[in-house]
Amino acid sequence: MRLMTIADVDAVLAIEQAVQAYPWTHGNFCAALDSAYLCCVDEVAGELCSYAVLMPGVDEAELLTIGVAAAHQRKGLGRAMLSAMLEVACARQLSRVFLEVRVSNPGAIALYRRAGFTEVGMRRAYYRNEKGSEDAMVMACNISSHLAPQPRAGEGNNKLSANSTSLPLAGER
Ligand SMILES: CC(C)(COP(=O)(O)OP(=O)(O)OC[C@H]1O[C@@H](n2cnc3c(N)ncnc32)[C@H](O)[C@@H]1OP(=O)(O)O)[C@@H](O)C(=O)NCCC(=O)NCCS
Repeated sequence: MRLMTIADVDAVLAIEQAVQAYPWTHGNFCAALDSAYLCCVDEVAGELCSYAVLMPGVDEAELLTIGVAAAHQRKGLGRAMLSAMLEVACARQLSRVFLEVRVSNPGAIALYRRAGFTEVGMRRAYYRNEKGSEDAMVMACNISSHLAPQPRAGEGNNKLSANSTSLPLAGER
């Protein structure tokens, strides 16, 4: 897993357009990179297969999008990407990560629940769909209750530090 670069955007967009009914645009991903949101990708055998964008705030972060190429779904890539996002939130000492998800997306809702997210609200008619609109479920994961504190460098070699790959910590981007 690594940070997304501008050179990845075409490959990310190809997945996004294949798996999302209302995909982000090329400009949306470029804007996320320009805004220094945490944009990550993962590869399998050199092929870009998954991505996610996390928008960090002062105390919270919002997961803006996550996607896995159709041919690679249900192999744990979504779980690994989400876990990496939560680890970064933990390392940045954010208290909560939240997200919005279409109520018609049971696969994503199941992924989020398994990662420790719970429903905290509903936004009525939030998304466009073929019938006009649909609701968004708002979900949140409390980082402090979900993940153990991360030790400083040299203090240990727990799951978080071992899995945190090269994703940036506070102030690194
Ligand atoms: C949602 C998505 C990111 C999940 O990624 P994934 O790599 O397929 O998910 P994983 O293999 O890591 O699954 C982890 C767990 O999530 C749940 N899950 C994932 N997809 C599921 C599905 N289609 N149906 C039911 N449960 C699902 C399961 O509990 C699964 O564990 P299991 O395989 O041991 O049963 C992927 O399906 C995707 O890209 N969908 C299209 C884009 C999208 O909807 N993004 C989210 C909204 S922005």
